Amino acid sequence: QMRKKIVAGNWKMNETLQEGVALTKEINESLKAEKPNCDVVICTPFIHLASVAQVLDSNVVGLGAENCADKEKGAYTGEVSAAMVKSTGAQYVILGHSERRQYYGETAEILKEKVKLALANGLKVIFCCGETLEEREAGKQNEVVKAELEGSVFNLSAEEWKSIILAYEPIWAIGTGKTATSDQAQEMLAYIRSIVAEKYGNEVAEDTSILYGGSCKASNAPELFAKPDIDGGLIGGASLKAADFKGIIDAW
Ligand code: G3H
Repeated sequence: QMRKKIVAGNWKMNETLQEGVALTKEINESLKAEKPNCDVVICTPFIHLASVAQVLDSNVVGLGAENCADKEKGAYTGEVSAAMVKSTGAQYVILGHSERRQYYGETAEILKEKVKLALANGLKVIFCCGETLEEREAGKQNEVVKAELEGSVFNLSAEEWKSIILAYEPIWAIGTGKTATSDQAQEMLAYIRSIVAEKYGNEVAEDTSILYGGSCKASNAPELFAKPDIDGGLIGGASLKAADFKGIIDAW
C-alpha cells in the first residue's frame, strides 16, 4: 500500500448553506474535465453536510466535518455526534485543529475521546498538530507536536491507525499569509513520520499520509508537494474559491 496524496479543504466558519452548495457545484465543475491525481476532500460546517453530500460528485470528492462531539449521544445540547456526521454521507472528520484547541479548550484527553468515537463510527480522522510561534522560537516544536500525538492518537491500535491522516499546521502560518518554508515543513513532516515509525513501525509510517497546512495556496503548493514527506495539504482560505482550490489540486 502506497500512502495517499490528499488535498483537503477546511471551510471553517464560512459560507451560508446556499453559498456552500453553490461552491460545491463549482468544485464539481472544476474537477470534471480530468480526474485529480490525488484524493480530494472538503470539510464543511455540520449544517452543510447533508446538502453538500447530495450535490457533491462523490466519485471525485470526499466529504468531512470539521469537528464532532466527545460523547456518543444524549443530553449534550448543541453537540453533533460522530454517528450523526457519518449519517450525512461524510467519510472524514477533522479533529484537533488548533482553533478548536485554542478557542474551545479542547485538550488531549477530549480529543482522544473524539478520535475514538469517530473511528468507532467508521470515519477517517484528519488529526491536526502544530506549534505556536513562541514554541518554535524556543525550539520546542518537535516536543510540542510529539506531545499532541502521544496525548490523543498514539494510543490507537495499528488497525485503527489505518484511518488516521495527520496534518501539521504551524499555528503561526494559519491564515497569516506566512507559509512555513518547504524545508521547515519537510523537516517537521519527516520528524512526525519518524515518531510514527517508532510507535507503529516503518511500514505503517511509510503508509501514513501526512499533510501540511497553513497559508497553502496554488503558488506555493508545487514546492511543498515536491518534498518527499509532504503528502498533501489541509487548505483553509484557498479552499473557499473553486479556482484556487483546483490550483492546489493541480499541483499534484
Ligand atoms: O485547516 C486549515 C488550516 O488552518 C490552514 O488555513 O490555509 O487559511 O492558512 P489557511
